[in-house]
Amino acid sequence: MPTILVLNGPNLNLLGTREPATYGSMTLADVEALCNAAGQKLGFAVECRQSNHEGVLIDALHEAGRGYKAGGVAGVVFNAGAYSHSSVALHDAIRAIEVPVIEVHISNVHARESFRHHSWLSPVAAGIIVGFGVDGYVMAIEALARKAAAKG
Ligand code: DQA
Repeated sequence: MPTILVLNGPNLNLLGTREPATYGSMTLADVEALCNAAGQKLGFAVECRQSNHEGVLIDALHEAGRGYKAGGVAGVVFNAGAYSHSSVALHDAIRAIEVPVIEVHISNVHARESFRHHSWLSPVAAGIIVGFGVDGYVMAIEALARKAAAKG
């Protein structure tokens, strides 16, 4: 069964208690359960990881790149949190691995502070899902499943 990596970046471990008016009341464990269920329905294994550290996220992307080449990984759902707005290194990592990466933001970053309007990930992402709350993760998994089906 091919695997989809759901990767969450800094501060997303605090989901549920962090600014619930913006990010909702579901915890990261709740979101991961949602992702697992969505993957299962579509015939994908889902592996969930979270890190507050940029280098750990880069390592996870590299690992997904090796998995994609070997045929076991179908793609990555990535909410890089604030690193989306700051990290050229994550941009380079996504560019390097050639894995379809769907960028997800729970909140509508474009309706928020201007420093959230630019993302270093967007130009190298296969697609972007923004502002649909935690449902965005499920939408991204569905998008990767469609991509995998189209690839054959
Ligand atoms: C976020 C939006 C980012 O601007 C913020 O830094 C986050 C979460 C979102 O999911 O809406 O940590 O990526």
